[in-house]
Amino acid sequence: MSRVDPSAPKEPPTNAWDRTWQPQLDAPPPDFESRSLGNHIDALKLEFIGSDMPKSGRAIEIGCGSARLLARVGRAAPLQLVGFDASMNALRLAAATASHFQLAIRTVRGDVRALPFESGAFDLVLSGGLLEHFEDPSPVLSEMVRILRPGGVFYADVVPRKLSLYRIGAALRMLRSPWMEEGVVARKA
Ligand SMILES: C[S@@+](CC[C@H](N)C(=O)[O-])C[C@H]1O[C@@H](n2cnc3c(N)ncnc32)[C@H](O)[C@@H]1O
Repeated sequence: MSRVDPSAPKEPPTNAWDRTWQPQLDAPPPDFESRSLGNHIDALKLEFIGSDMPKSGRAIEIGCGSARLLARVGRAAPLQLVGFDASMNALRLAAATASHFQLAIRTVRGDVRALPFESGAFDLVLSGGLLEHFEDPSPVLSEMVRILRPGGVFYADVVPRKLSLYRIGAALRMLRSPWMEEGVVARKA
């Protein structure tokens, strides 16, 4: 496990996910309140969790990217928040999101297939758009379930690999390959 100092000087992106997030780091902060497709989808996710949302305890977003879902969770309930991702740039974005929402989000870097947390440590385990990036997502799911407290809340969504409004930007690439950008899918060994 390594904790990340989001204010550390930027390094050139070292992997596909760092490259994916780089443009967002260089762009103005996103508007989380505007009427956009992304914000609408986030609102639907929160609505889905609804009254299952824990009233206290710890929540973690696995493969958090910019941690926009985690931040909305943190606005809805007074939970201790952890954003987990392999990409330094993602964790920098998560820190920016936390500051936008004036929330404390602890950022932790590592691999989702070996989570550096004790079993049963979290009351809410979330992932959004993560599991479809693994040819075999079962090791990721096992780890997510392991760190969930018995009786805790598990939430995961995937973006289906088919053309959609959400995927419009990726349409050309998807015509060429059933996968997404090289390096962002973990193939089976
Ligand atoms: C499509 S993004 C989803 C980001 C965010 N959850 C969202 O909905 O905007 C997938 C994230 O999973 C992270 N990720 C992919 N494979 C990972 C791995 N093996 N360990 C940790 N994080 C990983 C990537 O760095 C990326 O930030």
